[in-house]
Amino acid sequence: MHQLDSLSGLAKDAAYRVLHAQLASLFAGERNGIANSANAAAALFHALPDLNWAGFYFLRGGELVLGPFQGKVACVRIELGTGVCGTAALRRETMVVPDVHAFAGHIACDAASRSEIVVPLIGAGRLLGVLDLDSPSPSRFDDDDRAGLEAIAALLVNGSDLDRCAT
Ligand code: SME
Repeated sequence: MHQLDSLSGLAKDAAYRVLHAQLASLFAGERNGIANSANAAAALFHALPDLNWAGFYFLRGGELVLGPFQGKVACVRIELGTGVCGTAALRRETMVVPDVHAFAGHIACDAASRSEIVVPLIGAGRLLGVLDLDSPSPSRFDDDDRAGLEAIAALLVNGSDLDRCAT
């Protein structure tokens, strides 16, 4: 049984390095994409401060479908090109949105959300889904979050059979 250590007191980039190492150890010997993404959502939600949602959408049949997450219940299906998640997926690039109210087409699953970061999951050149984090604080996410979460997304993609979660 793995126990994740507290990251409080660490600088943000150092906290992401520790979290990356903890997740690498958690994923070791396990490639099930549902199990690893569920543990990643829980680890991120509980380790990172000031979040109200952390989780995954997987590409299934040409749209994003809700995967493992922590937070309030969320919309189940998102079209590519719609909302922050669908835009990040279509562009295949990380979206950092400091004020979701200023993002045309933002999908408000939880009215408390004020800022958001969405990282696409790309494996072998193929879009598999997105990692989505929401915060109740404006401008919660910066370049340290982008770098840290992109590295964690790559770790998950390389260490899991996410191609079985995405069809
Ligand atoms: N806000 C997202 C929808 C997903 S929820 O935040 C969990 C969006 O605009 O795509």
